[in-house]
Amino acid sequence: MQVWKDYQAQNKDRFLNELLELLRIPSVSADSRHNEDTKRCAEAVKQRLTDAGADKVEVCPTAGHPIVYGEKIIDPSLPTVLVYGHYDVQPPDPLDLWTSPPFEPVIKDGKIYARGSADDKGQFYMHVKAFETMNKTNTLPCNIKFMIEGEEEVGSNNLGVFLENNKERLKADVVLISDTSMISMDNPSIDTGLRGLAYMEVAVTGANRDLHSGVYGGAVANPATILAKMIASLHDENNHITIPGFYDGVQELSAAERESLNKAPFDEAEYKKDLGVEELWGEKGYSTIERTGIRPTLEVNGIWGGYTGEGAKTVLPGKAFAKISMRLVPGQDWVAISDLFKAHFEKIAPKSVKISVTAHHGGSPYVTPTDNIAFKAASKAISTTFGKDPIPVRGGGSIPIVALFEKTLGLKTVLMGFGLDSDNLHSPNEKYGLENFYKGIETIPYFHQYFAEMSKK
Ligand code: BES
Ligand code: MN
Ligand code: MN
Repeated sequence: MQVWKDYQAQNKDRFLNELLELLRIPSVSADSRHNEDTKRCAEAVKQRLTDAGADKVEVCPTAGHPIVYGEKIIDPSLPTVLVYGHYDVQPPDPLDLWTSPPFEPVIKDGKIYARGSADDKGQFYMHVKAFETMNKTNTLPCNIKFMIEGEEEVGSNNLGVFLENNKERLKADVVLISDTSMISMDNPSIDTGLRGLAYMEVAVTGANRDLHSGVYGGAVANPATILAKMIASLHDENNHITIPGFYDGVQELSAAERESLNKAPFDEAEYKKDLGVEELWGEKGYSTIERTGIRPTLEVNGIWGGYTGEGAKTVLPGKAFAKISMRLVPGQDWVAISDLFKAHFEKIAPKSVKISVTAHHGGSPYVTPTDNIAFKAASKAISTTFGKDPIPVRGGGSIPIVALFEKTLGLKTVLMGFGLDSDNLHSPNEKYGLENFYKGIETIPYFHQYFAEMSKK
């Protein structure tokens, strides 16, 4: 629509500067030293929603970081879209690998470099600006509610309770989220699934203290060696996961579904080049697209123990640790999988060490429908602004609250993400293209327009 185009062209620089301001706030949810910053970020989001024209804007306290809520109800008989996003970000570590400081955004080669630029400040902010565009030009076609949380990156542990306690306030027809990626700007896509997650931590204890590795080494089990062996045994020679029962219930896709999934454009040579690897790795019998979309996986996120400082120290550590996560697919329950992991890890441990296994957060997988009007509205919106129909693909990441939107609120979700997998999410030098940011702001109002139109029929 021309009025949207004009409004956005006139306010382009301000939109960007406002995002840069948000990116300067280090709202790292995992790190309690940043609790004040995280709170300040919530207040900033509240202000932005208010300025854009939302009503009843509120910073809602939780047992953890607050949730920001706001709404614009133009007519209760019209459909309502609930926009979800998160203002918290991952820790920026390792800091020395950033080419510019993570919370001092810079624009280089058409991209915004900062922690949170793509995940998810840059993406949820597109919705605030799209809403502003529609609101200030008096073209809002439906009601909008915003729920922007501050604990997504630490498992959304308090959001479930908030959903339970705010069913009436959160009443809507669909949830709209921009917190996923597209294949590329030339190959727009919509994620039709998110994987679930079970996140574990293990500790292996050997002797009751660190020992001289010459005096005791060879006679006492080294927990780091034992842990390495145990972890290595979790995949077999075909890179299948060896935990008994792990694949029970996993929904296999039909040959036709797999074929259509594998039609998505994927350049293996380019993928390898971007990552700097000679060869890819993964479960035998599945393509890369399948390995990251429809198959469950197990990853070591961190492993430590003994001396890791500068130089050499001869020591036989008393303890070793690892953080291990599993991505889950439909048919797997994260609590059951956490239990299976714990039982298996305890069982394979030799008597020479003691094992402790604890579960961190988890979440259920989710597959979005593609035959409802919300998905069709998103497809049509992307076709309108990209000039190409989006390709449906299964995303590899997790947004655990999405399954709860369905369970608690009875709402389906549309994942209309505008990032790219190469945006360095959770890594140093996270970035978000200016083109992606502006294209998102341009596309979102069409979603609302089409969703409202299709709801009438
Ligand atoms: N935005 C991501 C999830 C994502 C990214 C989905 C790209 C699909 C494509 C989200 O912020 C995230 O990082 N989620 C965590 C889970 C959470 C419980 C820590 C994840 O996937 O590791
Ligand atoms: Mn995210
Ligand atoms: Mn994330």
